[in-house]
Amino acid sequence: MTEKRWTIKELLGLTTDYLKTKAIDSPRLCTEVLLSHQLKKSRVDLYLDYDQPLGEEEIAGFRSLVRRRVKGEPLQYITGHREFWSLDLLVNPAVMIPRPETELLVEEALRLRQDGLLTDNLTPMILDLGTGSGAIAIALAKEIEGASLWASDISPEALQLAQANARRHGLGDRITFCAGDLFEPFKGGSAAFDIIVSNPPYIATEEFNTLAPEIRCHEPRVALDGREGGMHCIQRLIGMSGPCLRKGGWLLVEMDPRQTERALNLIDSAECFGYKERIVDYRDSYRMVKAQKKYG
Ligand SMILES: C[S@@+](CC[C@H](N)C(=O)[O-])C[C@H]1O[C@@H](n2cnc3c(N)ncnc32)[C@H](O)[C@@H]1O
Repeated sequence: MTEKRWTIKELLGLTTDYLKTKAIDSPRLCTEVLLSHQLKKSRVDLYLDYDQPLGEEEIAGFRSLVRRRVKGEPLQYITGHREFWSLDLLVNPAVMIPRPETELLVEEALRLRQDGLLTDNLTPMILDLGTGSGAIAIALAKEIEGASLWASDISPEALQLAQANARRHGLGDRITFCAGDLFEPFKGGSAAFDIIVSNPPYIATEEFNTLAPEIRCHEPRVALDGREGGMHCIQRLIGMSGPCLRKGGWLLVEMDPRQTERALNLIDSAECFGYKERIVDYRDSYRMVKAQKKYG
């Protein structure tokens, strides 16, 4: 007797039902993404080839991807890809998976330039501190043709991936990558930026264990854990950024809405900033703080 050969249509239906029973988010989408990854087809092609029967190896490979997802591995680490600012980025467990809300930092940096608020609007120097996969630096390099980008991270593994992403997008010579703790790569005033943008680790250690296991057990702790109150990096960033900013330069930092008030106080204490503001995200929560270094 010949064994039954499952078609794409059947596998999509069965797997979606299975993932529903396992309470996996967006089960149909997840199934489509995993099957298209296994078959190296676009999701549209799955529907064009709906009745195509699959071979044993293809089914075994797909099952193993589904098992990984059911065990809690994030979909993006399984496929190795994540979209940010409509750019396809490689991701792996050395980097945090870029989140949609972080696009707000890119939007805000672009707005500063559009509004003519940079000392150098044509060829600004921009630092993405804690670049991870390189998402913010790559998006800004794509958008601002004349900009010089720096991307730094404490994790050499993250920087390696960020560099690979920059090369994939043809930006290998537009972004300078530096390893080190916060501003350490720029000490001695080796660079002064028009914009410093950062999405630092800002989860409070006290709350770390309440994170979904999908995040807590898979994404790098160094990318998430902001120590006490989640403010360790934010506090150091605000306190140390002054010498690395040009006069009139801008600091943009993503954080938890509950941290923004404290961040504004830290900006006041730093004394080098003349203007400060909190920016809301699409959920109408304060998600970012921006501050401008004084001219005088
Ligand atoms: C929240 S992730 C953000 C990654 C990326 N910018 C994004 O938005 O998707 C924070 C990043 O900061 C890096 N990082 C943590 N502590 C750092 C430090 N002291 N100095 C520089 N980078 C740091 C982590 O390795 C991680 O890549």
